[in-house]
Amino acid sequence: MLPLKTFRHVAGVCLCLLLAWLSNAANAQSADKFFPKADLMPIGSYYYPEQWPHEYWARDLKKMAEVGFDFTHFGEFAWAFIEPEEGHFDFKWLDEAVELAHQNGIKVIMCTSSPTPPVWLEQKHPEVLMVNELGVTMQHGSRQQCSWSSPVYREYVSKMVEAIARHYATDKRIWGWQLDNEPSHYGQYDYSPAAQASFQKWLKNKYHDIETLNKTWGTAFWSIRYSDFSQVRCPNNKELIAQANPAAILDFKRFSADEVTGFMGMQYDILRKYILPEQWITTNLMPTHDQVDPTRFTNLDFVTYTKYLVAGYDKGLGPQGFRMGSPTSIAFSNDLFRPINGTTGVMELQPGQVNWGKFNSQPMPGVVRMWIWHAFAGGNKFVCNYRFKQPLTGGEQYHYGIIGTDGVTPSRSGQEYIKVIKEMKSLKKDYDPNAKMPKDYASRLTAVLYNPDNRWEEDNQPQTNQWNFMDHLMRYYGALKELNCPVDVITENKDFGKYPVMIAPAYELLDAKLVERWTQYVENGGHLVLSCRTGQKDRNDKLWEMHYSEPISKLIGAKVSFYDLLPDTVWGTVKMGLKTYKWNNWADVVDPVPGTETWASYSNQYYAGRAAVINHKLGKGTVTFVGPDTDDGELEKATLKKVYEQAGIPVANLPKGVILEWRDGFWVGVNYSAKPYLVPIPATAKILIGSKILNPADVVVWK
Ligand code: GAL
Repeated sequence: MLPLKTFRHVAGVCLCLLLAWLSNAANAQSADKFFPKADLMPIGSYYYPEQWPHEYWARDLKKMAEVGFDFTHFGEFAWAFIEPEEGHFDFKWLDEAVELAHQNGIKVIMCTSSPTPPVWLEQKHPEVLMVNELGVTMQHGSRQQCSWSSPVYREYVSKMVEAIARHYATDKRIWGWQLDNEPSHYGQYDYSPAAQASFQKWLKNKYHDIETLNKTWGTAFWSIRYSDFSQVRCPNNKELIAQANPAAILDFKRFSADEVTGFMGMQYDILRKYILPEQWITTNLMPTHDQVDPTRFTNLDFVTYTKYLVAGYDKGLGPQGFRMGSPTSIAFSNDLFRPINGTTGVMELQPGQVNWGKFNSQPMPGVVRMWIWHAFAGGNKFVCNYRFKQPLTGGEQYHYGIIGTDGVTPSRSGQEYIKVIKEMKSLKKDYDPNAKMPKDYASRLTAVLYNPDNRWEEDNQPQTNQWNFMDHLMRYYGALKELNCPVDVITENKDFGKYPVMIAPAYELLDAKLVERWTQYVENGGHLVLSCRTGQKDRNDKLWEMHYSEPISKLIGAKVSFYDLLPDTVWGTVKMGLKTYKWNNWADVVDPVPGTETWASYSNQYYAGRAAVINHKLGKGTVTFVGPDTDDGELEKATLKKVYEQAGIPVANLPKGVILEWRDGFWVGVNYSAKPYLVPIPATAKILIGSKILNPADVVVWK
């Protein structure tokens, strides 16, 4: 029998889990209610009335309606126009723009303009400004320069949000609300006095007394120990001679992510007090920036993402891939954002050539349309193009819009919008509310379990310059798309039971409770795939005082003996069946216990012959552990294929770059590869858009 204290603890944990689950379930339902399914995916575009001469507004909004846009987006950078002087709010100009949109049949997403405080505010209160890692105070002249931790900034933001909320509280022309804009400091962390004070408060809240912090962080190492929370600085490698304490870094990343989530939550709560229940509140995030954690934003109705694929950073596939981006870019954003609150949208999508990239190529003709269809395939409830008009002045002068520099002529990608908007509208007549997800496709629903703690911690202690957490995760994710699996990227607060297969890549930080949940999941018939680095540490970033990764030993049916890393010029080899695979990023070497099957073994280095990939049957399910991290992802893909085969789950084998997804009764195919692909569309199907031969940067839709 459990001792009373333990029982209470377990009961408490169960209750918390139940409440978390209930609140998530409620959120998911309520988020969906904002978007009638039959509307499919409305398409809109950004417009900045404050950036254009007044006499253009009527012409521009009329043009927007002619292009076919359903909605527009106002005000995220307009604070200086909304509150030109402290306490004096001016909504006359914005009212006029909202009315013009309305007259043209266009709904409005209204924003809070917290990323661009007016200069009077910063001059009066320079303490609102954030300080970067070099100790430089950010200044007025761009955006996102304020500290989310500053109580003064928060006070001014609250007043501005309250004013705008009161003004548009019951205005039915407003469809929904966006808070801030890409809240982040674009990769910079805040080390201002306000952030230091807030971090200390956060730590005190978490650890209560300083001795607990000392013990948890292990501050005896290098005599870091503190006697008071006020002595703890935000860890900043730029002001330290050698590496910072890793637990301090992890907590600082958690704190920074909590800080921006709280800042959005603060704005949400003000707005919600005033606005109509049918109006939703979201913010727009860059999906894979490590500074902000989208999965924390369960305090909003839902979160949306922003996406720019052609800016010189994403090579894509094949010689023209740089003009299309990677097939996993939009796909992963869909699958990460949708499960957070049960729904999502694309708040910004690249309109064509941009100005801020490494090099700003022209996107491939057709690809803007393809991206929109890809967003549709992934379940998005709307897509908003960034931006309607190419600006003639300001920091994004050379950034395309739907309308070119003459102010009236649609750009090449503008033409693509005109086409896709017509297609999307005509698709509505084929919408069938009773359509059910095809059985084979539904049977391979897969979860990728994600916790940013693992990313933050592993990328801080990579052990090799070849380790990158997101690259590792994307090898599995990319393989899943090639096997044509529907995927949800989920966090631990979700129910595992509905997923026949779950992959938890490089899940370094865990606790006994998670191992127990995984064990139950597998015993009940789930198929769990774990990869290298999993289970090395506890949630506080401490290595277990046991054998290496021992907490998962029973689950995987093996002992993880050690890991090895190679120079990037040397290849390790692994044999699975008749094929040999290459690795040099990371390799966990495992020793299976009797009964655990070895699927692949290392075939060179001094540990040749020892296990690399193992498979353990447990209850009604299986656990597969993959030791190596390869560059090309082929071993990872072959392993996943074997997992589905063993489980009797049918999978497809799509060429790299081709994505086929099902949504609301429609199959959608998009092609990011360099070659045409003959889509296996059954003869009985009705092709609604495109044809069976799916060309690069093209689309096919059928039902
Ligand atoms: C986004 C940003 C927009 C605009 C755009 C330009 O990241 O949210 O405000 O700057 O980039 O491509």
